[in-house]
Amino acid sequence: LIGGGVIGAGWAARFLLNGVDVRVYDPDESAPQRLEELLASARRAYARLTLVPLPPEGTLTYAGSVEEAVADASLVQESVPERVELKQALLARASAAASEQTLICSSTSGLRPSLLQERMQRPERMLVAHPFNPVYLIPLVELCAGSRTALEAVERAASIYRALGMHPVVLRHEVDGFLADRLLEALWREALWLVHDDIATVAEVDDVIRYGAGLRWAFMGTFLSYRLAGGEGGLRYFLEHFGPALQLPWTKLVDVPELTEEFLDKLAEQSESQVDGRSIAELERARDDCLVALLQALRAQGSGAGETLAGWERGLLSTPAASAAAQDGDIDTPLVLLEREIPADWIDYNGHVHESRYLQLFADATDALLRTVGIDAAYLEHGSYYTVETHLSHLRALFVGDRVRVTTQLLGFDDMRLHLFHQLIRDGDDQPPATAEQMLIHVDAVSGHASPARNGVRARVAAIVAAHAALPRPSRAGRAIKLQPSSDRETSYPAAPNN
Ligand SMILES: NC(=O)c1ccc[n+]([C@@H]2O[C@H](COP(=O)([O-])OP(=O)(O)OC[C@H]3O[C@@H](n4cnc5c(N)ncnc54)[C@H](O)[C@@H]3O)[C@@H](O)[C@H]2O)c1
Repeated sequence: LIGGGVIGAGWAARFLLNGVDVRVYDPDESAPQRLEELLASARRAYARLTLVPLPPEGTLTYAGSVEEAVADASLVQESVPERVELKQALLARASAAASEQTLICSSTSGLRPSLLQERMQRPERMLVAHPFNPVYLIPLVELCAGSRTALEAVERAASIYRALGMHPVVLRHEVDGFLADRLLEALWREALWLVHDDIATVAEVDDVIRYGAGLRWAFMGTFLSYRLAGGEGGLRYFLEHFGPALQLPWTKLVDVPELTEEFLDKLAEQSESQVDGRSIAELERARDDCLVALLQALRAQGSGAGETLAGWERGLLSTPAASAAAQDGDIDTPLVLLEREIPADWIDYNGHVHESRYLQLFADATDALLRTVGIDAAYLEHGSYYTVETHLSHLRALFVGDRVRVTTQLLGFDDMRLHLFHQLIRDGDDQPPATAEQMLIHVDAVSGHASPARNGVRARVAAIVAAHAALPRPSRAGRAIKLQPSSDRETSYPAAPNN
């Protein structure tokens, strides 16, 4: 990475959390601290984004020069300030020092790659890869070739970014501002005019996006939204009806309000009142949480950026590293298959962690167990274990920010069934806040009926059950729900609050 500012650090986080080693050159002394802070935010966001195990983090090192940074690199990502001269000089140095195969990409928001290629050696491996902030969460990366870029370089870059969970859009033509910033700039100009002319405040302009069009844009974009507005008649009907209105001089198009001190004061003042004392760190956290929520909602719909997220998760699950890691652990003790922090959005209207979240933790641990015994993307085409019964004991309340892990003991198995016991363990707590006993049945994916697990999976289950047979049987295993004589009742644990 050449440049470790907002964008360079975002790239660092995306690469590192995908298991890629990163070397950064940035002469600014405060760059490492900024990088570490951003990396912490990205780790927090990924912990909420996915339960799929991530590969071991890549290593982050700092280089003293461009040449040191690019040595042996597979890909160089330049993210220095948007000044042509500076970028051209650094890209020229990088191209002279990097190996011939190294891809060299610029994060520029609008400079044409042909211009940036001018002083480079082997410019055919250079292209623009324009990301969006925060780079570790927003999947879009616009790829734009210059006049001397080889098609092979664009294809190679696209497959690298795709493997990092991104969605590359390859431009058909080299244009200033690429696609996204051309659209955003038109909106941005008009937004400035509306505030400049006192037609609306900064907050009101933002509200008409976030309460309206912005909600649609995440999954339909502009054209598909308008197509629906045209009903059965489609886009043709829509334009026949509303096309004439496009001729009305509503918007200012390329005119830009003069950025006088007075106008800047007005914008700054309204922006401060909109922010209402919240710090940048708070706003960034809120932004990340909303992005994660959106991506997850879109994943459930199989739509747009959610489908990119699902594809990335499938890719992580099917890498040999993931299944090897799942198979390697120590099986003489209960398996530790899930670790996480209780997130703020697990709180219900009463201020409690909702009881369904306890089951979610155990269900996620069961999913992790299935991966451990070899149920990967390929196996799922033939079958998997389904949970048919859970006995969940709520023993203590959970709180936001608690660090918890689930340990899992296999109690028994046969060809089709798997009997297991989970305990939820909280850091600093001597008793489990919850336990769950489950029975799973193996089901054939095609017939939908119970069926024997395949040999490899059964052998793995058998090995763990045999190892766990030496462990003490959990005292709560085999309990039933019933009214017990008061002398037998456990009174030491306050139960989780009822929701
Ligand atoms: N900020 C965004 O939202 C955004 C989005 C997409 C693309 N971009 C593009 O990404 C690039 C970087 O933008 P940014 O927002 O991260 O800027 P930034 O100012 O936050 O970061 C630039 C970094 O480059 C470093 N730098 C300066 N001179 C350098 C040199 N000679 N060698 C190495 N590093 C040097 C600076 O110390 C700084 O850390 C720009 O081309 C910008 O157009 C920005």
